[in-house]
Amino acid sequence: MPAKVAIIGGGGSVGATAAYAILLRKCASEIVLVDLDEAKCKAQVLDLSDAAFLSDTTIRFGTPKEAGQCDIVVITAGAKQRPGETRVDLIDRNKSILESVINSMKPFKKETVLLLVSNPVDVLTFIAQKLSGLPESQVLGSGTFLDSVRLRVELADVLNVAETAVHAYVLGEHGDSQFVAWSAASVGNTPLLNFPAIQKLNRDELANKVKNKAYAIIEAKGATYFGIGAVTALICEAIILDLRHVRPLSHFIPELGVCLSIPAVLGARGVHQTLKPPLTKDEEALLQQSAAEMKKAINKINL
Ligand code: LAC
Repeated sequence: MPAKVAIIGGGGSVGATAAYAILLRKCASEIVLVDLDEAKCKAQVLDLSDAAFLSDTTIRFGTPKEAGQCDIVVITAGAKQRPGETRVDLIDRNKSILESVINSMKPFKKETVLLLVSNPVDVLTFIAQKLSGLPESQVLGSGTFLDSVRLRVELADVLNVAETAVHAYVLGEHGDSQFVAWSAASVGNTPLLNFPAIQKLNRDELANKVKNKAYAIIEAKGATYFGIGAVTALICEAIILDLRHVRPLSHFIPELGVCLSIPAVLGARGVHQTLKPPLTKDEEALLQQSAAEMKKAINKINL
């Protein structure tokens, strides 16, 4: 079934990289780039059109109204972290950008899935659902998917196994209050904590390395975009093909009252089911702490 993906903020490095990654996955029939900076956005379209021969995907510039009628709307628009800035520091600037972006696209097609990528992604996912009026299951954020990829690559290296064999998740905020659910992690059917190499590992040090990786990249090159572009493409592919992958995505968690990343079944309608893993008391406390941080950030802005 032809699938149209709109990228709001398509003129920027994250949006254009996400478009390129989606193009390479050959899952969308059309990618519509939208951006306030029309000249830059049209230049990205021109540049991407030189890669379109790799897939049958049409790439074009479009308007917010056209975006609101697409199957998936990826929102990458907004200010990006400056060196040393936390993601939550972006909330005031990016909340007002999100409000104007959502209002410029309404009314949405009723099946549209909104995918938030801009930061702070958990707070913006919460706001986008309220502003768009779309069902909670159809408004999700990239959340800790990228953090979990970063974690799995590190663990695969320690254990000398394929990254796809490592089932470990970073949960909570895509940000400083995130945590690793070590007790729920496994490699194949073996609990991760059973491996002597993991027992010997300084797990807090590894978790902090994952948590702070974006800061290190931003310090060195000003922004991150390849990792987030790749996970954005995988999320779009799972929605378009109804793959039912289980991914740690930011979505509304009723018992917490905020959007945070907990593993979820991802398919045509967005989040089909939340699969909260059994957590230790300490991990549960970290999840509650992360939720409290999100509530604090939401309370600071008058929604
Ligand atoms: C990062 C951005 C996407 O973690 O927050 O690279």
